[in-house]
Amino acid sequence: MRDMAGAAERSKLQILVEELRFEYPGASAEALSGIDLEFQQGMLYALLGRNGSGKSTLARCMNGVLAPGSGRVMACGLDTSCEAGRRAVPATVSMVFQNPDTQMVASTVEEEVAFGPENLGLEPDVIRRRVDDALGLVGISDLARRQPLRLSQGQKQLVAIAGALAMEPTFLLSDESTSMLDYSARTRVLELFEKLRGMGIGVVHVTHFLEEAALADEVIVLDAGTVIARGTPAGILTDPSRVRSMGLDPLAVTVVAYELGKLGHSVPEILDVKELLAWLYA
Ligand SMILES: Nc1ncnc2c1ncn2[C@@H]1O[C@H](COP(=O)(O)OP(=O)(O)O)[C@@H](O)[C@H]1O
Ligand SMILES: [Mg+2]
Repeated sequence: MRDMAGAAERSKLQILVEELRFEYPGASAEALSGIDLEFQQGMLYALLGRNGSGKSTLARCMNGVLAPGSGRVMACGLDTSCEAGRRAVPATVSMVFQNPDTQMVASTVEEEVAFGPENLGLEPDVIRRRVDDALGLVGISDLARRQPLRLSQGQKQLVAIAGALAMEPTFLLSDESTSMLDYSARTRVLELFEKLRGMGIGVVHVTHFLEEAALADEVIVLDAGTVIARGTPAGILTDPSRVRSMGLDPLAVTVVAYELGKLGHSVPEILDVKELLAWLYA
């Protein structure tokens, strides 16, 4: 009995994806063709893959927007095969999207961030605390009274993330949330994801920037609706020809390391320029 209770507790901190298949109505092929994955809280995952490989569909299945065609998604103990499960999931698996403009509905930042908790039917003082906490966590308390639509893209995305965090989720899914941002805003979002991981939140970041994927604990690569690679960033991203075969652009530093290897140098697995320079000048 105790083991079963332990397993139930653990399942609340995981997203389990089992033999998941999904096909959009009228589509000629499955968007997801048998996915088996598990995601743990307190980990940062990067979900990669060429356009149309199924990343957004998988993310939508993980937060209950889409029901599995077949197979199963257990999101924090909730079964998304049933409607009640799907309705409950977004409170614990929150999602942010590519374009912050499409996510803004309220006239001030604090109202925007309060939107999710209000939908949960929480008491006003609880909502107030959650909004203040989320704004503080994201580092935008000073924007509370501003109009979302007057903010920069990067600030708007931080507001959207604060809104997701005000749900006090176990997981945050980011579907290319950095792709429309400039470098400094992207850096800020990535630093925030690392902070959330440290607080025990599981972050699943869909991205096509490999330098972002290099920060993850685990990299998952999709192609044509299946998982074609899964492992550490160093294990997956350091071989440029393998990365190209997965439909991705390799990191420049890995190309340099690979070319040095061809010249006979034994270069360690390197993912960033500082590491390469440290090795070169060691
Ligand atoms: N709403 C939709 N209706 C029909 N087909 C879709 C829809 N959304 C995505 N697809 C198809 O499903 C596949 C996976 O798409 P998607 O999950 O959006 O991939 P990614 O996010 O990796 O670019 C693609 O072939 C895409 O054309
Ligand atoms: Mg997508």
